[in-house]
Amino acid sequence: MQFDLQHTDPATDARAGQISTDHGTIQTPIFMPVGTLGTVKGVHQRELKEQVRAQIILGNTYHLYLRPGTEVLEAAGGLHRFMQWDGPILTDSGGYQVFSLAHRRKITEEGATFASHIDGSKHLFSPESSLAIQRSIGADIVMAFDECPPYPSTRKYAENSMHLTHRWLERCVAYMRDSEPRYGHSQALFPIVQGGSYDDLRRQSCEFIASQNQPGNAIGGLSVGEPIPDMYRITQLCCDILPKDKPRYLMGVGTPANILECISRGVDMFDCVLPSRNARHGMLYTRQGIINIRNARWKNDHSPIDDHPEAAPTSQLHSKAYLCHLIRCNELLAGQLATLHNLAFYLSLVREARQRILDGSFREWKEELVPQLERKL
Ligand code: GUN
Repeated sequence: MQFDLQHTDPATDARAGQISTDHGTIQTPIFMPVGTLGTVKGVHQRELKEQVRAQIILGNTYHLYLRPGTEVLEAAGGLHRFMQWDGPILTDSGGYQVFSLAHRRKITEEGATFASHIDGSKHLFSPESSLAIQRSIGADIVMAFDECPPYPSTRKYAENSMHLTHRWLERCVAYMRDSEPRYGHSQALFPIVQGGSYDDLRRQSCEFIASQNQPGNAIGGLSVGEPIPDMYRITQLCCDILPKDKPRYLMGVGTPANILECISRGVDMFDCVLPSRNARHGMLYTRQGIINIRNARWKNDHSPIDDHPEAAPTSQLHSKAYLCHLIRCNELLAGQLATLHNLAFYLSLVREARQRILDGSFREWKEELVPQLERKL
């Protein structure tokens, strides 16, 4: 994996760059649609390419290990072949999902034990086993096994947890050094900064993570319930320390406004379930604000779901009245059209951000757009 930093905005800390992987290049800043189980829910791979214009998608070690399991993934020749997605894939390492989904969780020095949320069966994830699974999945970018402390956490908890994440990282780096990719393409490890809401811990974590000299770096432990100003402050602090010549990935963030604000602070990569999950509940993001398409207000509105030239082709084709009807009747197509819409919206937003960074109009554009994005229509 290689990162070329093409331009840094002199008015903010926003950057435009390019990540090259063995499955193709990614223009940054980028948003990665979440494809937990080898599918971005409700969106076919062809639509992901042609309508959403996704450049990289995310998979989850926790889910793919439980179902279909590594034996099936290996027999398929890895996740790319299994799901017929030939672009880049990033996998999260499983720790975060263990703590949000699994039962009877316990952390030890060795790793995390948990009971599956599907059948209650008992499992252990360690830095080594998480990466062995990520080798079997065959993601282009693999995440270090970390602990994301809950919010709020005491300083003592956040500090111990950060040190554990650092010790686990050393084991991840050793595992990657001593093992080979399974399918011929290379896999890059991204370490994850932790440290809760404590600025000095975050600084310490960034310095340790940077010292590991991996191909990219991630900021974890945010968007876990902390106030938004804290999220922005910690993102800025981390970006000021993490190396400039490597991509920075802010995990699990966020709303369209959060993404523009964090691009402005120096983040290059994002993922979040909001656009896909909220779509299934009828919440649509547009440049004018947020639409609840279930609302009776849209029942007889025959204007396009979104007439922006960069909107998903299906959003330009179909009306708000049609989508309002479909969702009120619990039709499957409602979730599909809404998900396509939101993901295409997120991708068009980061594409325009990149263009604006390159032509020098990013700051003005962002400041005008952010308040509009947050309006409820
Ligand atoms: N997704 C969102 N936040 C986190 C985090 O802190 N760690 C990991 N591994 N995944 C995340």
